[in-house]
Amino acid sequence: MTPGVTVHVVPDAPALADAAAEWLAQRIARTPALTVLVATGQTPMGMYAQLAERVRAGTLDCSGVTAVQLDEYAGLPEGDPRSLRAWMLRSFVTPLGVQTVVPLLDPAAFTGRLAALGGLDVAVLGLGPNGHVGFNEPPSGPDAPTREVALTPESLRSNAAYWSGLTVPTRAVTAGMDVILGARETLLLVSGAHKCAILSEALDGPETPLVPASFLRRTALTVLADRDARP
Ligand code: F6R
Repeated sequence: MTPGVTVHVVPDAPALADAAAEWLAQRIARTPALTVLVATGQTPMGMYAQLAERVRAGTLDCSGVTAVQLDEYAGLPEGDPRSLRAWMLRSFVTPLGVQTVVPLLDPAAFTGRLAALGGLDVAVLGLGPNGHVGFNEPPSGPDAPTREVALTPESLRSNAAYWSGLTVPTRAVTAGMDVILGARETLLLVSGAHKCAILSEALDGPETPLVPASFLRRTALTVLADRDARP
């Protein structure tokens, strides 16, 4: 395995949520003003719920954390329920009592604000079924900047599951591979048998823009996978 990469396999999704929450809680305890890139999608939801539980119990204080938005659909009207910003606010920012948010709307403003913050301490990521991270769709190389992208048919299909009855936006803005790979530490969460083949490509195959997640091995990467995703 590549130096800097640690893979932990846990039995199931609840164990993944526990381990991931513990991983981030330790870092927030050490660095209360942690700057965290926050994925939405299904995989980290159990983790965020566990963190919220700790905040409610008074054992974790996230008020100094800065939440940085990872991606957003393009062209949605203000307040649209599909907005990933709204999803991040209801799953992470509000329940954890986070006070500072860096939204992703305009790539130039986002990049400038991140630079002023001194970059990311931590990136929390899910793995797309096509190997995307954020909405860095294949092909995306390690220098791909924060930008607007067209979503691939595969992403449109998997996103449709989140928005029953609503049309899925076809374009998005994503934090670039350059931003993601610049994080001082990365946590990649992977759950389910449908992610098994792509996780193996990302960890065991060649580094390639066809599997953008394969470049995460260049970072200080912790992979938390359940047994279905990493038998
Ligand atoms: C979400 C995001 C996506 C998801 C990925 C996995 O903000 O950036 O890259 O992390 O599509 O989604 P789930 O977790 O729903 O399988």
